[in-house]
Amino acid sequence: MTLHLFNHLLAVGSVEAHIRFMEAFRAVYRNRVVEIILLLCAASQIASGLTFVRRRWRERHQGLDLLQLGSGLYLAFFLLVHVGAVLTGRMQFGLDTNFYYAAAGMHVLPYRYFFLPYYFFAVLAIAIHLARALHWLARDRLSAAAMRAATALLSMCGFAAAALIVAAFAGGLYDITVPAKYLATFQ
Ligand code: HEM
Repeated sequence: MTLHLFNHLLAVGSVEAHIRFMEAFRAVYRNRVVEIILLLCAASQIASGLTFVRRRWRERHQGLDLLQLGSGLYLAFFLLVHVGAVLTGRMQFGLDTNFYYAAAGMHVLPYRYFFLPYYFFAVLAIAIHLARALHWLARDRLSAAAMRAATALLSMCGFAAAALIVAAFAGGLYDITVPAKYLATFQ
């Protein structure tokens, strides 16, 4: 996951840097066994997260608990749609699901109104969810003030990373020409 997001941050530099890293990194995660394990991990994350939410649904949630619940639910939704879309792009459309596959949705109206917040909140939700996990893991070791500072720092980093990644993919940092075969998936 960290490498996946680092890969997207490289797009802040250039599309070429993003594609070069992804092609090298694919040698690892596109290996049949590794990919099956990765997809099973994603499925088990969704299943265990939803089970947890269902068990604790009736409890009273407030403040940061609500953020944990909301970010977790959003990540479950995002992972289902995102992995489904990547597999459909590869298997049904026969596309190389690289930078342009994700960028296409951010360049076609009206879909960009869905895809801009869709990707932005995915990256932000990861940071918030990690911050909440840190809270539970380190609550006996760190003071309340240190916990608040760590949560705020992680959330701000997530916000900045989300804004930079979405700006790069949407063509806000430099001009991008999305090849027609990727745009065609929206017609
Ligand atoms: C701005 C945010 C994101 C963008 C633009 C993006 C884009 C992509 C692209 C283009 C691929 C295809 C990779 C390939 O063909 O080799 C991919 C795969 C994948 N992404 Fe993301 N992603 C983002 C965030 C996330 C997040 C937050 C998660 C997890 C919560 C995630 C989970 C995955 C997984 C599991 C795959 C692998 C599917 C496979 O087996 O090929 N992505 N993503």
